[in-house]
Amino acid sequence: MKHFMPVRLCTGEHSVAENAELFQHCGSRCMIVTGKTSAVKSGALDDVAGVLKRCGIPYLVFDEISQNPSVDSCILAGHEAGDFGADFVVGIGGGSALDAAKAAAVFAANGGLDENGFYAKDWDADPLPILLVGTTAGTGSEVTKVSVLTDSKGRKHSIHDDRLFAAAAFGDPRYTMALPQPVTLSTGIDVLSHCAESWFNRKADEVSRAFAVRGIRLLYGPLLAAAEGRALSLEQRGQLYDASILGGLAICGTGTCFPHNVGYYLTERFGIPHGFASARFLPALLSLVREKEPAYTERFFRELDLSEDALLQLVSACLPYQKVRMTRDEIAAALPRWENNNSVRNTCCAVSTAEIQAILETLFTD
Ligand SMILES: [Fe+2]
Repeated sequence: MKHFMPVRLCTGEHSVAENAELFQHCGSRCMIVTGKTSAVKSGALDDVAGVLKRCGIPYLVFDEISQNPSVDSCILAGHEAGDFGADFVVGIGGGSALDAAKAAAVFAANGGLDENGFYAKDWDADPLPILLVGTTAGTGSEVTKVSVLTDSKGRKHSIHDDRLFAAAAFGDPRYTMALPQPVTLSTGIDVLSHCAESWFNRKADEVSRAFAVRGIRLLYGPLLAAAEGRALSLEQRGQLYDASILGGLAICGTGTCFPHNVGYYLTERFGIPHGFASARFLPALLSLVREKEPAYTERFFRELDLSEDALLQLVSACLPYQKVRMTRDEIAAALPRWENNNSVRNTCCAVSTAEIQAILETLFTD
């Protein structure tokens, strides 16, 4: 495996204001792509607008990005960016806004491109330069070449392309201070999934494993504190943010494995937030690898200096009670999506469709 992560990453307090030249290097007219609230509430939009004004860069805000963003909303953002004459895109928000900004940069540079052309990577022009400002500690999208969008049939797909790397990304933990507990937990548990799914991935190597282990070690204390209802300090928020970047670096090299992909189905079908949806399958992942790759699983917990019980307790402390019920017929009808699926195949041990069926039936049927 080759590691390639060409994003200039600025972390720490005031990292946006202290790196105004990175905005100037990207262009002279800016399209900001974001959601309705977090960019404003976090203070990130104010900081970005302040830098753009100081640099004399006109900007337009597109704030129509919702959770699990649709390709259509990205096409719309791309058209507005084109009409405005934007020559770079700034995404502000959690994973949804950052992934949407990457796609909007593609559509802005390729007027007339439709959903099929987007997924086929039939792009005549490179995307506009992209800057990303994170407001949650979870996605890792800041440092990946991945955009996860919902297509016109309501299905989540990830697209991976080197052209989707940001020119620069900013991780200021102050923006995450006011996050409500459910968002802290759903995004934090997503980091745990990224790190674990990277470790138990066929493509893992010593570099990705180092990112994954360090990510979980940084994450464990603050996430457990958040799950127990304690307020987090700026230092703890910074640890969560750094862990999210480490998780992003880990999956940048390996990708995720089956919990993420099966989790997409829970999100599509029941609206369960992404982080909670993937994490529902972490216990099943650990149980499978414990059985099929016991030595490798032992090494994981030894390097974490954590017991399996402790990690599972963290997962259950973060997951809210959400009653999800499916019929056996419904599960059987969904199974073809996991046949020959890359994420499932990337799990370090073989995982059959029958095993996914058994996992879903155990969790979600009476
Ligand atoms: Fe994720």
